[in-house]
Amino acid sequence: MIDGKKVLFSGMQATGTLTLGNYLGALQNWVKLSDEYECFYSVVDLHSITVRQNPAELRKRARNLLTLYIAAGLDPKKNCIYYQSHVSGHAELSWILNCFTYMGELNRMTQFKDKAAKHADNINAGLFTYPVLMAADILLYQADVVPVGIDQMQHLELTRDVAQRFNGIYGDVFTIPEAYLGKSGAKIMSLQDPLKKMSKSDENPNASVYLMDDTDTIIRKFKRAVTDSFAQIAYTDEQPGIKNLLDIYCSCTAKTPEEAVKEFDGRGYGELKAAVGEAVADVLGPVQKRFEELSKDKAYIDEIIKENADKANYYAMKTLRKVQKKVGFPERIR
Ligand code: TRP
Repeated sequence: MIDGKKVLFSGMQATGTLTLGNYLGALQNWVKLSDEYECFYSVVDLHSITVRQNPAELRKRARNLLTLYIAAGLDPKKNCIYYQSHVSGHAELSWILNCFTYMGELNRMTQFKDKAAKHADNINAGLFTYPVLMAADILLYQADVVPVGIDQMQHLELTRDVAQRFNGIYGDVFTIPEAYLGKSGAKIMSLQDPLKKMSKSDENPNASVYLMDDTDTIIRKFKRAVTDSFAQIAYTDEQPGIKNLLDIYCSCTAKTPEEAVKEFDGRGYGELKAAVGEAVADVLGPVQKRFEELSKDKAYIDEIIKENADKANYYAMKTLRKVQKKVGFPERIR
């Protein structure tokens, strides 16, 4: 608890180009949650180097992502928006938690197996212990809730296990975090293969709408979206392409699937695609505009970065000092 509010932690990696899926599935939700919780939203750059990065590129992307958090509507005076690498406590707690996590547990992580297969030439120890760093992120702020996608649930379960194990030995040190899974409609699928999640690492640019795509590009990508030959607009798993379009439409317009189905009753796929494209462009347009404005204001962003790193450090250090004492590190003489 901070000032009577429950604590929320989440983070995103600054790798790849952010997509509509990241916005509707995560960012948009973050904004909604930011009144209710004391929120920490991190740009998790320590996680990013588990895969080889171009340094200049990583720096630029991290800054863009941080700016985008604000452009999407997160008030940086209320929400702690910061770079993970500016708070050394993440790495320090991660080391300690490594000593309370079993090889067997990490070996079971499906994301590790996937990434190891994808980057067979660089299966480094960081890639293996990535979930421990994620646990440290969350536990460092004594987070009560963690909004995550379904693909991160296994990591969150591990976080809970490690926290409970630690608490079992040393007493109540960590808050045990709960997952916050957004509403089911928030999972946005690829426009080219609606059985696959829309991903920033997809090689086909038509599969994803990028957050910075202009209106024409957005409309064109929806026009090309893969559908089916049922020739009916229904919200059903048998028509994953149409269902995805309806989900996107609903997320952008705050309508329910029933309302949307009714609205498009008897109309063709072309009309649906055009309407979805416009709804998406309407939602992304203001975010893009604000991003451009913010990007020009270097001094403002710099100030946010500094202030929030200080704030994050304050809370992180509180937890870290407690943990260090519990495990038996000598007290600091001041
Ligand atoms: N691993 C998450 C992802 O790839 C990002 C992340 C890092 C995260 N630390 C976190 C998410 C802590 C939630 C909480 O999506």
